[in-house]
Amino acid sequence: MPMQTARTEPIEGQKPGTSGLRKKTKVFQRPHYLQNYVQSIFDGIGGIEGKTLVVGGDGRFFNDDAIQIILRMAAANGASRCIVGQGGLLSTPAASNLIRQHNADGGLILSASHNPGGPDADFGLKYNGPNGGPATEGVTQKIYDRTKTIDAYKITASGGIDIDTLGTRTHQGMQVDIVDPVADYAALMERLFDFDKIAALFKSGFTMRFDAMHAVTGPYAAAILEDRLGAASGTVVNGTPSPDFGKGHPDPNPIWAKALMDEMYGPDAPDFGAASDGDGDRNMIVGKGAYVTPSDSLALLTAKAHLAPAYAEGLAGVARSMPTSRAVDNVAKALGINCYETPTGWKFFGNLLDAGKVTLCGEESAGTGSDHVREKDGLWAVLLWLNILAETGKSVSDLLAEMWATHGRCYYTRHDFEDVDSDKANAMIDALRARLTDLPGTQAAGLTVAAADEFAYDDPVDGSRSTGQGLRLTFTNDARAVFRLSGTGTQGATIRVYLEQLESDPARLGLDPALALDAVASAALEISDLKAMTGRDAPDVIT
Ligand code: G1P
Ligand code: ZN
Repeated sequence: MPMQTARTEPIEGQKPGTSGLRKKTKVFQRPHYLQNYVQSIFDGIGGIEGKTLVVGGDGRFFNDDAIQIILRMAAANGASRCIVGQGGLLSTPAASNLIRQHNADGGLILSASHNPGGPDADFGLKYNGPNGGPATEGVTQKIYDRTKTIDAYKITASGGIDIDTLGTRTHQGMQVDIVDPVADYAALMERLFDFDKIAALFKSGFTMRFDAMHAVTGPYAAAILEDRLGAASGTVVNGTPSPDFGKGHPDPNPIWAKALMDEMYGPDAPDFGAASDGDGDRNMIVGKGAYVTPSDSLALLTAKAHLAPAYAEGLAGVARSMPTSRAVDNVAKALGINCYETPTGWKFFGNLLDAGKVTLCGEESAGTGSDHVREKDGLWAVLLWLNILAETGKSVSDLLAEMWATHGRCYYTRHDFEDVDSDKANAMIDALRARLTDLPGTQAAGLTVAAADEFAYDDPVDGSRSTGQGLRLTFTNDARAVFRLSGTGTQGATIRVYLEQLESDPARLGLDPALALDAVASAALEISDLKAMTGRDAPDVIT
């Protein structure tokens, strides 16, 4: 087989314990950089000889070139088959589904998720294992170790593999199947949800706006919402994936999906609004004049999932990441099911899902999912909401009001301080960590600290322990503040401060969230001394 082995050097930038690599596009385009990481993945998972891999990405700049390199390297490393989304496109949940459906040995997903794309923005690559989920810590450690020692990679001498035409071809002995990126995923959704009921809802005049943010979910949303469920044409906006996401920031939250928020709070608001991120795993849900926090969305889906066919038998359990609000805990308690608290990051849910301990899981960062794949899934969350709206005939705000009246309301916000000098950010966290045991009883902004600790997680399935997963302070009035450093930022350090206030008094369920959280926000700043330690006056992003 005509093949070359290029000499190379170890690469910088891969963080141990993260299930992928996210960097500036220009870094990925450096000679041998992507190649080194791909070879490190192949070596780290024990070689790919005779294996089947799923390959696809969110369509951002460099997606096509990177896929050509990956396919040539997969062939040179002896893979027997690659299943590739047509045009190089696959949403992250669709890739997870394909891995599972074809019993593939894993997949390579090209995306920097919700980070902007383009020659001067971000690119990323992650490896998912045979269960369809992000690589486990053990595997990511092996890949990381390999990035430190790698000195050569294998690649076929010629490229130009047609990934735009459906069908099967071969590249130097490896079978390449170009598949419709949407078909299998849409079929899965049709098995999970009552499509007839949702179609009837649209037929009755129910209106919706889905903002695909110029990212990968456009074709999925158009095929499912408009073509199969009969939502009016034009329901899906910004539906054509673009290499730089229309110069936007494909992160579905009130800041970056502002146009959708304005429409949903305007005079002609549709009944339901939703958005998804670059690679289609995150979601934002908003009713007429009613933004749903991701934490509340997880709680509501948990309370009502039984209304969709796939979950009619009830849920085995539910899981949330530690900084996600405790709203779902109250719902789980009422349902009599377990609620697991995991570290930030989807990979921790994988074990619980594989072991059948949980059916639904979610994160405050707009990720919600279930055991149907091993990734969070934006459109899935939207369809579950639609199924619930169709079954109950209630509006989003009615459903929320009902839930708050029954379980109390968890006001919630996240403050991000971005691109902070790494030394200063670490110093702030270290100083707070050192004072944790002294904090109970401390008063700040009228609140009193009840407990303070650093979150560690003992995985109930494999017994592994993950430490250093965020500093948390609870207050005597049911408020909570959590501090952690982002593991996905690409520049400096990002400090995330998660603020929460649980209110059960019926008279306090309709407050302005910013007001309801004012005291805990002030207390968090005062106790952490964040301003003095980092030189930052205000958060860069509030979600
Ligand atoms: C962020 C989110 C986290 C999510 C991850 C990947 O990580 O906070 O919930 O799993 O992106 O989408 P962070 O930057 O906080 O480490
Ligand atoms: Zn994403």
